[in-house]
Amino acid sequence: MSSEQRLVIVGGCGHVGLPLGLVFADGGMNVTLLDIDAQKVKRINAGEMPFMEKGADPLLCRLIGRSLVATLDDSCLRDADVVITVVGTPVDRHLNPMVNELCKNLDGVVPRMKDGALLVLRSTVYPGVSQRVYEQVKELGREVHVAFCPERITEGNALDELRRLPQIVAAFEPVAQQKARDLFLQIAPEVIELSPPEAELAKLFTNSWRYLSFAISNQFYILAQSYGLDFYRIREAVRHRYTRMSGFANAGFAAGPCLLKDTLQLAAFSSNNFFLGHAAMLINEGLPNFVVENLKHLDLARKTVAILGMAFKADSDDTRESLACKLLKLLQLQAHEVLCTDPYVPDPSYVSLMEAVERADIIILGAPHSQYRELDIPEEKIVVDVWGFWPARQGAPIVKKPVRV
Ligand SMILES: NC(=O)c1ccc[n+]([C@@H]2O[C@H](COP(=O)([O-])OP(=O)(O)OC[C@H]3O[C@@H](n4cnc5c(N)ncnc54)[C@H](O)[C@@H]3O)[C@@H](O)[C@H]2O)c1
Repeated sequence: MSSEQRLVIVGGCGHVGLPLGLVFADGGMNVTLLDIDAQKVKRINAGEMPFMEKGADPLLCRLIGRSLVATLDDSCLRDADVVITVVGTPVDRHLNPMVNELCKNLDGVVPRMKDGALLVLRSTVYPGVSQRVYEQVKELGREVHVAFCPERITEGNALDELRRLPQIVAAFEPVAQQKARDLFLQIAPEVIELSPPEAELAKLFTNSWRYLSFAISNQFYILAQSYGLDFYRIREAVRHRYTRMSGFANAGFAAGPCLLKDTLQLAAFSSNNFFLGHAAMLINEGLPNFVVENLKHLDLARKTVAILGMAFKADSDDTRESLACKLLKLLQLQAHEVLCTDPYVPDPSYVSLMEAVERADIIILGAPHSQYRELDIPEEKIVVDVWGFWPARQGAPIVKKPVRV
């Protein structure tokens, strides 16, 4: 596939679409980011990243208006040789995958594409959706090739990972497979070829596996804390020069826009027999409740609590599905006052880090941002650090029960 080719990314101003567009444009492709969010389109065309992504700011400034442009105008689809769609694939408020949204969106995209073009589904999809889209394209009578190539980046490291990680490529026909392979070999060192149903499960297994791993650590954390013991001392001990336990994750507020909803997609796919997935949800989503329950003996109703870091993970400005936000809601029902602070999240209700630390009786680490590493917290403050981020403070279990021996 030559670098003269035109690529349109539908949902191109989002967390997946924009880094992908940057990497393809940097590789010499002519890239259009098609989106429905006018604010993001405007900011990107002005050379401003709408969210944090390592290394993206200078790249955007260099490429925008040259090989990269953002637009609200879907007429760009007409000339595209490749269209990659990365619109969100959420679950609804009853936790069911919203499969129809993606198909409805494609009803507007496919008829505008030219014959011979390649359509790549990049969103994480419910199993069977690629097949459904393939049939949808045929029903529309279009000569458009369909491939499913799931995104596997972690937010914040997208530019590095897109260039370094093998890409999973799947299609229903050899021509589509060849086109998708050629496309991703322009940016990635290697492609892994699967059938579309295999690729769909590969992506859901990846996210569910991570979510389950975090749930195991969170369950062990809760167990150790409830027993009056320091989870991190035990974790250090079992990992020390014992490689079989190297995958034993930190405890922490496992959240964000993907891991839970993709575990739930797999649960829906298994006719709700994915017991491990549901158990993981109860454990991970229950961690903020555990923290609050175990602070109640401290006369919480008279205490000011500060949450440091509202993003769903470290060094990120993304608060989507953040458990720090859930923690806030729980604390608002119990504590005298709750202060939130985050250096990356512009929310007028948040206070400065200094004010949060000064005024709080209890400090809870919501997201372990690097800039909190050397934070000087006065000795008299009660600190809750489920992440094990501040080794000096993590030794004190928040549960004040006698240790049973
Ligand atoms: N965020 C991640 O780290 C990550 C990693 C791997 C896979 N994914 C998957 O990628 C998909 C997208 O996730 P995201 O985090 O980039 O979401 P996002 O919300 O950041 O981006 C989606 C973008 O699509 C736009 N959009 C919505 N409807 C549209 C339409 N009809 N036409 C054009 N644009 C439209 C939105 O305005 C937004 O800019 C999801 O399926 C997600 O599961 C996300």
